[in-house]
Amino acid sequence: MKKIAIVTGANGGIGQHYSREMLNRGYHVVLACRSKASGEKVLKQLKSEFPNETVELLLVDMGDLKSIKQFSNTVLSKYSRLDVLAHNAGVYFFDKEKRTSKDGIELNLAIHFIGPFALTAQLFSLLQKTPDARVVSMSSSEHRGNPIDVNDIQSEKDFSEVGNMKVYSRSKWAILAFTAELNRRIQAKNLNIHALGAHPGVSITGIQHAGNPNFLQKGVIWVIGKFFAGKPEDAAKPLIMASVEGQGGEFYGPTGFNEFKGKPGIVQPDEGTKNQKIGATLWKKAEKLSKLTFDI
Ligand SMILES: NC(=O)c1ccc[n+]([C@@H]2O[C@H](COP(=O)([O-])OP(=O)(O)OC[C@H]3O[C@@H](n4cnc5c(N)ncnc54)[C@H](OP(=O)(O)O)[C@@H]3O)[C@@H](O)[C@H]2O)c1
Repeated sequence: MKKIAIVTGANGGIGQHYSREMLNRGYHVVLACRSKASGEKVLKQLKSEFPNETVELLLVDMGDLKSIKQFSNTVLSKYSRLDVLAHNAGVYFFDKEKRTSKDGIELNLAIHFIGPFALTAQLFSLLQKTPDARVVSMSSSEHRGNPIDVNDIQSEKDFSEVGNMKVYSRSKWAILAFTAELNRRIQAKNLNIHALGAHPGVSITGIQHAGNPNFLQKGVIWVIGKFFAGKPEDAAKPLIMASVEGQGGEFYGPTGFNEFKGKPGIVQPDEGTKNQKIGATLWKKAEKLSKLTFDI
């Protein structure tokens, strides 16, 4: 039976290359996308590149708990195993406008933490049935030095002052703290599942341009793209490595200068993401916001 990998944001710059490489390695790949048109385009392309492999598109909006529940139910009814659950979907806004998800949750937090939390919780029974299953979460090097305040996880106190870029980084810190907590709970129960993280370095994909950059920020994006950024196919490699050979608790990223790009390997997350008390508190807060009990 083929191994199965689900990747959210599969139609994006990194997600497409991730999906391609997982097909290349013989996985059945589920492209978990919110846009039908864009997902179908990638599906068609990958099917033509891999006529002997299997790939499908399933729609999910990672900022909508109802959609995540529907998606999870579809997956649970179709599959009897899940080898890799890759939380890759992401957004990046340069402005200071506060956006909320359909469920009223601050959008960075909703897409990068609460959505992945809810999806993991609802697919956990399937992961448990699969030997050596992996839950891999895409963070960002920007998480470093940006711990989330567990008493204000939606940045209500200072959003208008710090804006989306800071709040993005906090949400990417939160997903790593959740990953560490998930891994601790898995290990305490001796389950054969790995929870680990990755970051892609810097790569110019759709994410920068979709996020409302001003004139100056567009200039900075250009400079970064020209001198520092890796290609999207290389930026996908840390997540691929984490998905196929990573062990619980590890964190993968590019190992070149400043982790902008380079050979993928093990790198270090912000030390604070390993704090057990913070991990346990975040877990409780995520249960409340997602209206789910995630009991391992
Ligand atoms: N590129 C970088 O330099 C960089 C650096 C650090 C971290 N990252 C992280 O890497 C991941 C992939 O980013 P990328 O660079 O490949 O950007 P991208 O090309 O913009 O891809 C992002 C993907 O996420 C999807 N997405 C966004 N919101 C979603 C939602 N609510 N539900 C489902 N899918 C959603 C997008 O779908 P649509 O096409 O429908 O919008 C798109 O497929 C993200 O988590 C990002 O934060 C990227």
